[in-house]
Amino acid sequence: MKAFSYLASSALLCWSFSYASPQVYQDAVSATTLVASQITTTASASTSTSTIACNNSPLLCDRNYNNITHMGAHDSFALRDSSTDYTVAGNQFYNATLALSAGLRLLQVQAHLSDDVIELCHTTCALLDGGTLESYLSSVKTWMDANPNEVVTLLIVNSDDQTAATFGAVFASSGISTYGYTPTSTTGPVATWPTLQTLITANTRLVTFIASITYDETYPYLLSEFDYVFETAYGQVDFTDFTCDLDRPTTLSSAAVAVSSGYMGLLNHFKEEVQAFADIPDVDNITTTNSPSTSLLGAVGTHGSNCKTEWGVMPTFILVDFWNVGPSVETADILNVVTGTGRTNVSESVVTQSSESFGVSLQEIGPGRIAGWALAAVMLGNFI
Ligand SMILES: *[C@@H]1O[C@H](CO)[C@@H](O)[C@H](O)[C@H]1NC(C)=O
Ligand SMILES: *[C@@H]1O[C@H](CO)[C@@H](O)[C@H](O)[C@H]1NC(C)=O
Ligand SMILES: *[C@@H]1O[C@H](CO)[C@@H](O)[C@H](O)[C@H]1NC(C)=O
Ligand SMILES: *[C@@H]1O[C@H](CO)[C@@H](O)[C@H](O)[C@H]1NC(C)=O
Repeated sequence: MKAFSYLASSALLCWSFSYASPQVYQDAVSATTLVASQITTTASASTSTSTIACNNSPLLCDRNYNNITHMGAHDSFALRDSSTDYTVAGNQFYNATLALSAGLRLLQVQAHLSDDVIELCHTTCALLDGGTLESYLSSVKTWMDANPNEVVTLLIVNSDDQTAATFGAVFASSGISTYGYTPTSTTGPVATWPTLQTLITANTRLVTFIASITYDETYPYLLSEFDYVFETAYGQVDFTDFTCDLDRPTTLSSAAVAVSSGYMGLLNHFKEEVQAFADIPDVDNITTTNSPSTSLLGAVGTHGSNCKTEWGVMPTFILVDFWNVGPSVETADILNVVTGTGRTNVSESVVTQSSESFGVSLQEIGPGRIAGWALAAVMLGNFI
């Protein structure tokens, strides 16, 4: 069932990327223009007190890394903006640098091999190519250089099963490897991670998880995700599907077992919308999905607080689409019980696609084209 919906999804997304009309997205263009003028605000601007913030709050400095909710951008490179003609394959309206400035501290990407180079692509590089991993990491490093009190986490989906050495070479050439943190155990879960202040003082402020990879001690900071992290299910289509149940790794029997073994929980909190041929990111309901409300069905606030209660520990990571809506970072603040400071104020505007042109588009997809993209998806496998 799940596999089928991913195939269909790939088919539609690819088609839409090629043919989407920029005119449909006039609202989004305005929103982008508005935000561009706000980018100059720095993320770690000091507060009115002399206390220095760690990840946007002085209260987080002495908290253990795993006892904090890090809000994250799912497919952070996959933009639905002017650079992609506002493709429905995009999961975010704004890029990863702005996500960091706005307070997100987890960036998820999909790494694909394209002409022997690691590119950030959505399902396939023909559908949406967000540029090279090296360029992306260089941008993140530039931001980390300018924001020395911030701890950032990367989550990389290893779509083409590249080795740690291949990733390590890119981490080195981008310069970001200098910030790489290596935990006390490189083979399994760590119940008590260092405080943010410890990571900041050591200047090892980058935690990197790769799913899935064989650990290589030559690149000790490239961690195999499912040795440390468990996830709830992704690809959900109903608000009632946002549970706290463990989906991966399948080697663990339940969330309770994962928590008691020292694994950190990650909530996949992005919703797909079922269309005739495909599931696509659901922007129609995004204000609900990303709402900080702790009582609204389907809200990230509700999902987060439910799991905090059910697990007895923080969901360490949450991934959302269209992070500026909500804004999603408010849910992290609520769970962390802090008031964020020094963030760039980003427009919460939603980009909506005209349902009329969308309906016409679906009918114009020929069966041959569907089969072609479906085959591409089969060969690639991963779709997160
Ligand atoms: C997590 O942080 C909160 C707030 O500081 C604290 O009350 C709690 O004891 C911490 N939990 C652990 C397991 O350290
Ligand atoms: C985001 O966009 C800005 C402005 O174009 C650019 O300087 C930055 O490198 C981009 N960040 C990433 C991660 O691509
Ligand atoms: C989401 O939005 C669509 C389109 O507006 C609507 O039909 C649907 O009922 C909404 N809710 C859910 C849970 O999908
Ligand atoms: C952010 O911008 C919005 C829209 O301009 C405004 O309503 C809001 O008060 C701003 N928030 C902060 C914290 O500056």
